[in-house]
Order: sequence, then structure tokens, then C-alpha cells
Amino acid sequence: MKDTQYQVTLNFADGVSRSFSVPADTTILDAALAAEMPVLFQCRSGSCSSCIAQLADGEANTRQGASSTLLASEYAAGQRLLCLCQAQSDCTFELGYGSEVGSSVAHEVHAFVDSVERIASNVIRLTLELAEGDWLEFRPGQFMQIEVPGYGVVRSYSPSSTTAELPKLEFLIRLLPGGAMSSYLEEKASNDDVLTLSGPYGAFFLREEKRRSPHIFVAGGTGLAPILSMIDALRQGGGRKPPMLLSFGCAVPDALFCLDDIELRQQWLPTLEARICVDREPRDGLHHGSPVSALREGDVSADTVAYLCGPQPMIDAATARLIELGADPANIFAEQFVASH
Ligand code: FES
Repeated sequence: MKDTQYQVTLNFADGVSRSFSVPADTTILDAALAAEMPVLFQCRSGSCSSCIAQLADGEANTRQGASSTLLASEYAAGQRLLCLCQAQSDCTFELGYGSEVGSSVAHEVHAFVDSVERIASNVIRLTLELAEGDWLEFRPGQFMQIEVPGYGVVRSYSPSSTTAELPKLEFLIRLLPGGAMSSYLEEKASNDDVLTLSGPYGAFFLREEKRRSPHIFVAGGTGLAPILSMIDALRQGGGRKPPMLLSFGCAVPDALFCLDDIELRQQWLPTLEARICVDREPRDGLHHGSPVSALREGDVSADTVAYLCGPQPMIDAATARLIELGADPANIFAEQFVASH
């Protein structure tokens, strides 16, 4: 058994196919990385879904004892997390991204604090500027890990800016009582502090090949950050802009932020519609309810592509609602927003 090898083929969304051999006792991700395949991954432990792939042919099962975030129905439909999966035969996987995507390897950069600005009851806008000589590539929606100075921990945030704004980088950071990044930003951060960042990470990013399709963005809280980056990337790209619907919500009006930024984008992008939602204390012009409840009949067409970022219950509800309204599950991309102290 130990010497058994299987041939695994990866079909990337841009039509590129790559094959490599996988020992039966090795995860497909480990073998893929050893063979320098451009696959996306992050946690390597079944919790982030970055390495998700669709088994198209052959047999590959989650290794014994591993627990994954895939639903039983997703697993039965052939979805696999490559970091947990071992081949039982030669097999083929379809990947939802092009072969050039995974080749942007994460690396470390340094950046100066440019500004720290509180923009809502519990949100700070952090603007950084890359140190001279440092550079970074990322796709709209991907995230970076930032070391919190003096705390010995890293936290993950998606830029709300795009690479067109480099060397400036902007992040929207939710304040958590006692949280490491929150304490740093509120009590210690000062201009010209140097932060260490690494990235990019994550498989949640704007699908360039679908940029002409109608877009729906559903964002809860600071899940808005990667969504703003995506909207800006669509704006900065050439050609006709697709119809776009942004449904963004917070608990109460005081917690809302970036409404001016959204309005400005609506002026630049006549095809962008925004629905701003609050769970409580509704006011004129605001939808009363979650950003999912603001989605309605007629919003979705067969080729709609949707990007969801927020807490997991919001993502689950939005996914179910979009499918109910006619979206193709293969065109729904999501990133869970996890608050860490
Ligand atoms: S790398 Fe995170 S689930 Fe596989």
C-alpha cells in the first residue's frame, strides 16, 4: 500500500490541465505542492475551504479521522478538500480558478501606518503604505495576515482597496472589546509604525472570467471590505460594466459605515444598485432586515455570479435564498468573516 502511487489530474478553469503522482498515503494537496502545482490552500486542516475541488473522475476520499467543513450533500456531490483527501485510484479534479491564480505565492511585506480613522461605532479604517522596495499582488477579495505589533499574534483582513491603489492599502477593521488588533489600533497605533503583512491568501476573489455576468454582492459588517475591492476592480477594468447589486447590512444605523464610498461608486457606476440594511432601528431609506431579506424576485438571472462575505449564518441564508431565486450554486462564492480577539 505504501508504495502505491496514483495519477491525479487537475483541470483549472482556464483550460490548463496538470497531472502529478500521489502516493496513496499522502494528501492530494501535499503531493500537489511537492509537484509545484498552482493550487490554492491556506489552513491545510480542513477548516478554510480554500483548497476545495470537484472530483470529476476516479475515487478520492477524506482520510480517516479528519473532520471537514463540507456538508454531507456537498461531499456526496463530489466536492473534496484537497488538504484532507487521499486518492484511491487515478482521479481528476475540476478547480474553480485559473492556473495563474495559485501561482501568486504569499510573501512577507512591510508597510507604514498612514492613518487610523474610526468610521462607525465599531469599525476602524486602517490605511497603510507599503515600504519602499516592497510590492504585493493580490486579487480583489483575497486577504492578508497582519502581525499585531507587540501582541505576537496575526489577524486576517481583506483589503478594501485594489492593487491599482498600491502602494496604499486600506483595511476595514471591526473593533472587538479586548481584541489584540482593536487594542493596538485604539491605544497604541501611531503614524509611521511599521507593520508586517503576509499574503495574499484565500480562494475568495473576483472571477475575472465572469466579469460580464450580472453581479450580486451580499455583505454583513466588515465583510464589506473585500466586496468594495471587487466593485472597484470591476470599475477599474475596461469594457461595459455588468449590472451589480450590493446588499449590505449592519445591526443598527450607528454601526453602518462607508455609505459615502458606496454612494460615490454609484455615481461612477450607474449599473450599481445598493440596498443598505439594518436589523434594528430602521430609518427612511434603509431596508429593515438582513441583507439577505433585501434580495427579491427578479434580482437573479441564470448567469448571475454572487459574492457573499459576512458571518456564516448570513452566508448560509444568502446561498439558500440565491438558489431559490434561480442562481447556479457554482456561481456563488463566499467567505466567512471570523472575528478573532
Ligand atoms: S487548505 Fe483549508 S480546507 Fe484545505
